[in-house]
Amino acid sequence: MDQNANIVGRDTYQPLSVEEQELKIKLYDKLLSVMDLSLIETVSADQARGQISEICERLINDLHIPINLASRKKLIKLIIDEVLGLGPLETLLADPTISDILVNSFDRVYVERRGKLEPVNIKFHSNAHLLNIIDRIVSSVGRRIDESSPMVDARLADGSRVNAIIPPLALDGPSLSIRRFSVDKLTAKELIDYGSITAEMVELLQGSVRGKLNVLVSGGTGSGKTTLLNMLSGYIPPNERIVTIEDSAELQLQQPHTVRLETRPQNIEGRGEVTQRDLVKNCLRMRPDRIVVGEVRGGEALDMLTAMNTGHEGSLTTLHANSPRDALGRLEYMVCMAGFDMPVSNIRTQIASAIDLVVQLERQEDGRRRVISIQEINGMEGDIITMSEIFRFTRDGIDEEGQIMGRFDATGVIPGFHSKLKQHGIDLPYRLFNCGDPFAKF
Ligand SMILES: Nc1ncnc2c1ncn2[C@@H]1O[C@H](COP(=O)(O)OP(=O)(O)OP(=O)(O)O)[C@@H](O)[C@H]1O
Ligand SMILES: [Mg+2]
Repeated sequence: MDQNANIVGRDTYQPLSVEEQELKIKLYDKLLSVMDLSLIETVSADQARGQISEICERLINDLHIPINLASRKKLIKLIIDEVLGLGPLETLLADPTISDILVNSFDRVYVERRGKLEPVNIKFHSNAHLLNIIDRIVSSVGRRIDESSPMVDARLADGSRVNAIIPPLALDGPSLSIRRFSVDKLTAKELIDYGSITAEMVELLQGSVRGKLNVLVSGGTGSGKTTLLNMLSGYIPPNERIVTIEDSAELQLQQPHTVRLETRPQNIEGRGEVTQRDLVKNCLRMRPDRIVVGEVRGGEALDMLTAMNTGHEGSLTTLHANSPRDALGRLEYMVCMAGFDMPVSNIRTQIASAIDLVVQLERQEDGRRRVISIQEINGMEGDIITMSEIFRFTRDGIDEEGQIMGRFDATGVIPGFHSKLKQHGIDLPYRLFNCGDPFAKF
């Protein structure tokens, strides 16, 4: 196998030759000089495409440049993307196999496909060109990017999440990161087929959600937290009222009784911000049965814990951490950020009584996302929160294709919440836990 397969990949896009690139810039400049672009907004997208295409054909003929039909079509499409869309990004956005687009600098673009990062042969003309596209993205959501506010989060019309950062903070010119919004969220079956989780683990998680345990999904950047949260939320019974709170709406719940809330950044004058904390507080007045918070990042952790401890059981959230233990530490830290002077032991007691289960995800070096641990929180011993692992992923090695070899095991621990779930009518079979029935009569 090709040693560089992970980074070289196959690029399905036809790169522009130097001549084509030059011609594209020339054509674009000419088009701007002969066409009043403000008129484009007054016609339909199809009409605008038709007009641009017609003018480009004329300009190419006027320039007397020998160019074959395929190049001509390619160039006209790129010019249309430039005028009506997001320029070179359009080709990438049209490819459904791409999950992330990472523009390191105007001439270095990477994408992630099926868990693998690969460079693509698509470039912007210059820093100014890239900045112009970034400007288009952020101004369409009423934001602005310049030296005084050089980093911005935004969203594309299709829901994809965008972060842009420019000089002086980005040293090599503007940089753009896009997490595609995938219309089809992965299902439990797909996650099992991808080797991310086992059917037994899914059965445990499904029972836990239906039985109203409070579940915390933990993992690093891009490890699959939102995807798993979406899957877990799908197990909430349809008759329960769900309120979701997110920084940028990604969850796709099918239940009819769902209210979706999204935070709002401050406006250009620095006003009007609505934080996750504001939304969690507001949501408590909305009579939710379940609260699903996309990702806790700050002081809202305290309100979330209070809600979980005061009758809003079955709440779900995610958090950025590298192990279940680390997740609890992060939660503690976030509660401190809420600004109340609370003794650490009190915070830990709150955490231990609120959270039932921590599910740890990892994006591993073979590009796969795996649920590497599922742990229940038992309680406190002195000042320490005690946990027991129910499932774990054990790594055995790496095969010659670079794939991690390993297995998912139940540890033999029967979770303490087994009987609580039983009271809710959910009788998880003992075989899930890799132990015999402790009550079996011999
Ligand atoms: N188990 C999986 N197998 C393969 N791809 C996955 C898996 N889980 C998620 N993905 C894909 O990985 C990408 C990141 O997933 P997701 O948004 O759920 O991660 P995240 O941890 O929430 O990321 P972030 O930290 O940026 O919020 C998405 O494109 C998603 O479709
Ligand atoms: Mg996420």
